Amino acid sequence: MVVAVTKVLRYLLLVTVNQQRVSRKRTYLMCSPERFAVEYAINPWMDVTTPVDRDLAVKQWDRLRETLVGLGHDVHLLTPEPGLPDMVYAANGAFMVDGSVYGARFKHEQRAAEAAAHHAFYEAQGLRFIAPSETNEGEGDFAYVPEAHGGLILAGHGFRTEVPAHAEAQEALGRPVVSLRLIDPRFYHLDVALAAIDDSNVVYFPGAFSAASQRVLTQLFPDAVLADDEDAMAFGLNLVSDGANVVLNSEATRLAGKLKAAGYHPVPVELGELKKGGGSVKCCIAELRH
Ligand code: ARG
Repeated sequence: MVVAVTKVLRYLLLVTVNQQRVSRKRTYLMCSPERFAVEYAINPWMDVTTPVDRDLAVKQWDRLRETLVGLGHDVHLLTPEPGLPDMVYAANGAFMVDGSVYGARFKHEQRAAEAAAHHAFYEAQGLRFIAPSETNEGEGDFAYVPEAHGGLILAGHGFRTEVPAHAEAQEALGRPVVSLRLIDPRFYHLDVALAAIDDSNVVYFPGAFSAASQRVLTQLFPDAVLADDEDAMAFGLNLVSDGANVVLNSEATRLAGKLKAAGYHPVPVELGELKKGGGSVKCCIAELRH
């Protein structure tokens, strides 16, 4: 009897550990940090007195781009523009689902002009573009989980994107939007606190959300991977996943371990310079979902 139970337990363990994660080819948009600088402070990570090594930023960013290409993904590029030092954070320029693009409208004046560059890119691609009336920072505050409840948009508010933009995104994209309230200024965008790790599951840091939003996340994603404070502070949640390979900041070592245990393949990258602007992997990458 004891032997039989042990056998069953071992089998169950093997099945869980050997879960085969399937990757799906992605199309991304990035923008080189050739003009990156910290000239103003619009989030708690930015300090205008800390020097930035732009060459190193470019090197680290290049490695990130090569990593994505090496995993078989397509990467489109935006041309960095003078006077827009945060343009490297390409995630903030729009949010695309089912081939439709909901444009961004930045909260801070310093980044406002970035929206036009993104708009021009999507227009050149011949995609349906919906111009926003409400303040929202694109994929910084919107995430998409295609197989969760038939396709769910998760949306953050509290610091940058405003609640009316959530309703506007739902009308623009025709997918249900779930509003989540961010409560910690260090996690001022949704994408520094939560990420989709495959088509139906997410990873997040509960402490970044209000108690009510934590309940909503538990209800929607009972099997979510949870990150701790330290991994969140290391920008571990600011990741991109193709369903199997999870590209994440190399400092988030514990989270990498948890993802590995859950059957994913963590791919660590160093992005120390871009952390000085308050961003990491995901901030540099917008996903084009056709
Ligand atoms: N300095 C930029 C800002 O504060 C960083 C943006 C990070 N992007 C992101 N998707 N979280 O707006």
